[in-house]
Amino acid sequence: MRIQIYYIYDHLFFDISLFSEDHDTKPINGDLLMQNNSTGYKELGLVNSSDLFAKAVKGGYAIPAYNFNNLEQLQAIIMACVETKSPVILQVSKGARNYANQTLLRNLARGAVEYAEELGTPVPIVLHLDHGDSFELCKDCIETGFSSVMIDGSHLSYDDNVALTRKVVEYAHQHDVTVEGELGVLAGIEDEVASETHTYTQPEEVEDFVTKTGVDSLAISIGTSHGAYKFKPGEDPKIRLDILKEIETRIPGFPIVLHGSSSVPQDLVKTINEHGGQLKDAIGIGEDQLREAAKSAVCKINIDSDGRLAMTAAVRKVLAEKPEEFDPRKYLGPARDSLKELYKHKIINVLGSDNKA
Ligand code: G3H
Ligand code: 13P
Ligand code: ZN
Repeated sequence: MRIQIYYIYDHLFFDISLFSEDHDTKPINGDLLMQNNSTGYKELGLVNSSDLFAKAVKGGYAIPAYNFNNLEQLQAIIMACVETKSPVILQVSKGARNYANQTLLRNLARGAVEYAEELGTPVPIVLHLDHGDSFELCKDCIETGFSSVMIDGSHLSYDDNVALTRKVVEYAHQHDVTVEGELGVLAGIEDEVASETHTYTQPEEVEDFVTKTGVDSLAISIGTSHGAYKFKPGEDPKIRLDILKEIETRIPGFPIVLHGSSSVPQDLVKTINEHGGQLKDAIGIGEDQLREAAKSAVCKINIDSDGRLAMTAAVRKVLAEKPEEFDPRKYLGPARDSLKELYKHKIINVLGSDNKA
């Protein structure tokens, strides 16, 4: 037997799910369970997402989930969050781990905690695995200091998704690590799997999924998609807020996550194209729709592509205007500044997480 307790608005909600004996988990302090050679996230000064999500759902705002792969991205994220006093979820994808080395990334995240303090405002920082695609990857992250993981079984059959997600939850919760699951498939490329069309989340499945798996948050598919080409020219760039509403009525107050939430600012696309880039017909999600979603139970909004555009625009501009420049700090510095401004703008004008740290 397993009992989960969620805070839904001002009420306690008890979810009693029956599990077979070999799946039964016991509430054991995660720190005690950490093996000698593993690093718990609390040692790194990080937090899991539980309290942040409870407050975000209640307060009608969303926590920024920004991806990072290098030092400049991390600096920009922390500076933006400190200056706006926003909590933050630092996201690391499998690709980021392969690119930058997971040991370095984890220690950068540890440094970020101290860096925020040094800047004068310690903000709550979650270190989250983005789009985990196997139990082993999630386990490795949990053992090396991540405070939150996503297990993305959205491409599997419903039953296989439930089984895999539940397995990760059982392990993660022993370590006090929070877990995000996903139901529905986003169009575009997700986990190196390409899908032509959206498979929207079916509201009638969500209650069963969260009950059976015990996830702490649920990513849904309502028309967002990864990358810079979310809609074709002439299409109505709208997300299905009606499906979101229906999901909310099925699992009131349960933390919802939106992936693929870049807005693809057209001024950045223009700057890139004016300086040698070739981004044709790049279209994103309107910020007004994301602002609307953030007021609901959507409490985590994932933004990566907009940051890539901001950095690329700044780098292209410097190199085009100063072809004699070859010190990376001279183009990565402006890229970092531009990224910081973009992230501050999102926090204040889209997510509403400013002054919530
Ligand atoms: O959802 C995907 C994120 O934007 C991370 O992308 O797998 O290229 O690191 P990546
Ligand atoms: P974008 O590509 O829209 O920025 O989405 C990022 C994302 O969902 C990361 O998981
Ligand atoms: Zn995503």
